[in-house]
Parts: sequence; C-alpha cells; structure tokens
Amino acid sequence: MENLPQLNLEPGQVHVWFTCPEDIQDPDLLASYHSLLTEEEKEKQARYIMPWHRHTSLVSRALVRCVLSRYAAVKPREWRFDKNNHGKPRLAEECLLLPLQFNLAHTHGMAACAVTLNGSVGVDVERWDRQRDFDRLAARYFSPYEANLLKEVPEYAKRRLFFNIWTLKESYIKARGVGLSMGLDLFSFEAAESGHPRIVLDPLLEDDPQAWAFRLLTPTEHHVAALAVERQPDSACKVQSRFIIPLIHEEVMA
Ligand SMILES: CC(C)(COP(=O)(O)OP(=O)(O)OC[C@H]1O[C@@H](n2cnc3c(N)ncnc32)[C@H](O)[C@@H]1OP(=O)(O)O)[C@@H](O)C(=O)NCCC(=O)NCCS
Repeated sequence: MENLPQLNLEPGQVHVWFTCPEDIQDPDLLASYHSLLTEEEKEKQARYIMPWHRHTSLVSRALVRCVLSRYAAVKPREWRFDKNNHGKPRLAEECLLLPLQFNLAHTHGMAACAVTLNGSVGVDVERWDRQRDFDRLAARYFSPYEANLLKEVPEYAKRRLFFNIWTLKESYIKARGVGLSMGLDLFSFEAAESGHPRIVLDPLLEDDPQAWAFRLLTPTEHHVAALAVERQPDSACKVQSRFIIPLIHEEVMA
C-alpha cells in the first residue's frame, strides 16, 4: 500500500471510500490501526461501551487517516484534526498542505469517508433493510412535502424512499457542518428516488440550491449512502466510489 502513487482530485471531483468494519478482525491489523491514533483518539475510542461501536470507531479513524494520506505526502499517523463550532471534524491548520475537505459516516456494517478539494462535503450512510414506522418518523423529521410524498408511495417503495430522503437530509446537514441547529423542515428533496436529487430551500436558511450537488450511492445491497457536495465554479460534480481495507487493499467500485 505504501508504494501506491498519490491520487489527484480535480475541481468538482469527489472520492467516496467505503469499508466494512465487521469484516476487519485480524488482531495485528487492528493493532496497526490503534497505533495510528493520537492519545485523545484512543481515549475517545475506549470510552464506547458497545464493542461494535468501539470497533467501528477504530476502523473509522484508520479509514480517515489512510484515505487522506492517498492525496498528500503525510503519513496516516501524522494527520491532526480540529472541529468547527458544531463539532464537524476538519484538518488542523498545520495539515492544510492541500485544501482537502472530508466527512465521515458510519452505520452497522459500513463506514464511508468522502474527500474533495475546496468545497464542503457531507456524507451519510445507512442500512436500508431495517423495518420502521416510516410515516411516523417522516412526520417527525421530514418536511411536510417529504412526509406527504412518502405517504403516497406504494408500500414496497416506501422503505427505500425513506432512507434516500433521510441520508440526503443528513448529508446536507453534515456538509453545512451546523448539526441539528438547522431546522429539518426548512429544506426538502425532490426527485429523491433518482440519481440526481434536488434540494428546495426555505429562504430562512440563506443558502443557494444551485450551490450544491447531491448523489445517492448503493455501496452494498443493504446500504444506501448520500453525498452533498458544494459545487465548484465551471466544473461538474464527478463522484468515484472506492472500497478500502485500510493499510491492506483498495479498489475502484463499479
Ligand atoms: C453528528 C451528526 C452530524 C450525524 O450523526 P450520526 O447520523 O449519528 O452519525 P454519522 O455516522 O452520519 O456521522 C458521524 C460522523 O460525522 C462527523 N461529524 C460530527 N459532527 C459533525 C457535524 N456537525 N457536521 C458534519 N459531520 C460531523 C464525525 O466524523 C462523526 O464521526 P466520529 O464521531 O466517529 O468522528 C448530526 O447531524 C446528528 O446528530 N444527526 C442526528 C440524526 C438525525 O436526527 N437526522 C435526521 C435526518 S432526517
């Protein structure tokens, strides 16, 4: 892995890296991941009570560090991070050799790290084969437009549409980096069943819908991921998905 040529990101290009934490169980490899973490990260990781949460946190830290090192001559353990006022992790100033932007998401069976240059990026990933009371959740978390849309779709299409909208909303919140301080009913997604969803924004949010591109991805048959990317002048948003086992293996996904 160490000898791989560095990757370039063109303006507007986004790479999304997926890994399956549960599939990574080799104790030596996990010890290598642990050795990449700062003392603060080790303490945070050890505080998780649930073993799967602790494991996902460890693999996620290795994911972010190894992925970032594919774009700059910085070793995985040398990256340093800080956070914005709402807790969104970003590169510490001393590591801003390139204007790299990244965002991380994790759920049962999957972690994802999106990387781009200059513009903000947000990613969310969810298992979409879970059964829930989708109409009730939509009434609580979605805009009235989205909740009505969901009510009208036939039962077989409801679950997928719900997770598409959920991950899209989460990706936008994460790209903006303001957490839940932003009202979830102040923005809606149209065409959320398609490859190119569009956002509709309440003027209260003081944001331009044209400034953002959204994509839905299907990293496995059980998972859906959504990406929010701040558009760059004169360049189309191009997304490439990659699968990685940090320090061991990587490949471009079809
Ligand atoms: C923290 C939050 C950004 C996402 O949390 P989440 O969905 O539980 O978790 P995800 O796996 O998507 O993302 C977690 C990662 O996002 C990153 N993150 C943390 N705060 C963030 C912020 N303000 N903005 C962007 N990314 C953030 C971190 O890297 C975090 O992982 P880490 O703690 O291991 O470093 C926040 O939006 C939240 O609490 N959302 C609640 C979910 C909700 O109600 N969604 C409604 C959608 S309709």
